[in-house]
Amino acid sequence: MTDKTSNKMWGGRFAAGPDAIMEAINASIGFDQRMAAQDIAGSRAHAAMLAATGVITDSDADAIREGLLTVLSEIENGNFQFSTALEDIHMNVEARLKEIIGEPAGRLHTGRSRNDQVATDFKLWVRDQFDAAEKGLLALIGALVDQAEAGADWVMPGFTHLQTAQPVTWGHHMMAYVEMFGRDLSRVRDARKRMNESPLGSAALAGTSFPIDREMTAEALGFDRPTANSLDAVSDRDFALEFLSTASICAMHLSRFAEELVIWSSAQFRFVTLSDRFSTGSSIMPQKKNPDAAELIRAKVGRIFGANTALMMVMKGLPLAYSKDMQEDKEQVFDAADNWMLALAAMEGMVKDMTGNRESLAAAAGSGFSTATDLADWMVRVLKVPFRDAHHVTGALVAMAEGRGVDLPDLTLEDMKSVHEGITEDIFSVLGVENSVNSRMSYGGTAPAQVRAQVARWKEILG
Ligand code: ARG
Repeated sequence: MTDKTSNKMWGGRFAAGPDAIMEAINASIGFDQRMAAQDIAGSRAHAAMLAATGVITDSDADAIREGLLTVLSEIENGNFQFSTALEDIHMNVEARLKEIIGEPAGRLHTGRSRNDQVATDFKLWVRDQFDAAEKGLLALIGALVDQAEAGADWVMPGFTHLQTAQPVTWGHHMMAYVEMFGRDLSRVRDARKRMNESPLGSAALAGTSFPIDREMTAEALGFDRPTANSLDAVSDRDFALEFLSTASICAMHLSRFAEELVIWSSAQFRFVTLSDRFSTGSSIMPQKKNPDAAELIRAKVGRIFGANTALMMVMKGLPLAYSKDMQEDKEQVFDAADNWMLALAAMEGMVKDMTGNRESLAAAAGSGFSTATDLADWMVRVLKVPFRDAHHVTGALVAMAEGRGVDLPDLTLEDMKSVHEGITEDIFSVLGVENSVNSRMSYGGTAPAQVRAQVARWKEILG
């Protein structure tokens, strides 16, 4: 006789129930209840297929379907009693189904195991998150394109080493992030396509002797096809890792932009004004307006990449096929997904609301000898001086200006000629920042016309 407290699902083999600590370490219901809808969808598809292939009767399948719908509505309405003794969402749902419909519930698990069940549920959940990320990225890209279009010809300093390098346009800077998030978008789409194979019917690891139709369940659940190897299907978590690595790269991009917004919104830069809606105040310093949303977005990459690392470590030593280690996949992915979606939405909101301060940007664009390269290029183009020599002459002029505490356009023609005889009045035409950016017409360059061409290309992509 088995002890009453032994498990309903495998009590036949067990004389006693688990220790409380065993139950605590083993149970995943505390978090995998987030996959309830996916679990029920998977079970409905499986039951319908079992009936279609004659493995169970139509009346059992009907009872199962109705019962599952009841369970789903109980969960959705918060009337479901989750039990740790029942370990996970799969057994919680099945046990409740048994209470509702009785014996037919016991036929649902035919030709299936929790190993293919959890792989299927989790894939469905992650797939939804890829779709949410796609939406979030498209919205963010749209907001950046709008900013780029509005300020296609606003001049600002471009930096290398965070030192003034050459003038660029606001639109060009915004479109740089559009490219980054565009690559994230393509990674999302690519990974979603690759992961869209159904593990259902792989059973515990070896497949099943029942005449199941895996094409049918795959199609019912929106998968492109069934997975081709049952051992792989139940032990694969690449889809979760691709989700996390895609999220990590995107979070890194979000973090870089967030960092720029933190710098740009400071009193020292004043490049942007963030809206009140996406800022916070200080409880002690009345003047403060803090870019907290940007700072938190900057931090999210830490926890998202942490999740990626954690799951990599969980998976790296596992022999085929399923091991319980894999239950540790979900919390990492859930947390990363929640925070990725939140960071995308917060960034979109901030970008939509922020104001680029055109005057401050333009003032900063002209300082720091930002047009020194234009001066050197002019000498190469007009005076046919080799670039290395022009670089040297320009360096001497920058040193002269710096010594006097002025900018390059403030030097006189005589000053210029004292360093290089051939320089003419014409040089002053290239020292202005507007001329500088307008001249950078190479494909992908900072000229407003190039920026507008990229804006138009992206608008077409976004539709
Ligand atoms: N809760 C488990 C998980 O999340 C479900 C699969 C259990 N399979 C098993 N053979 N014990 O991975």
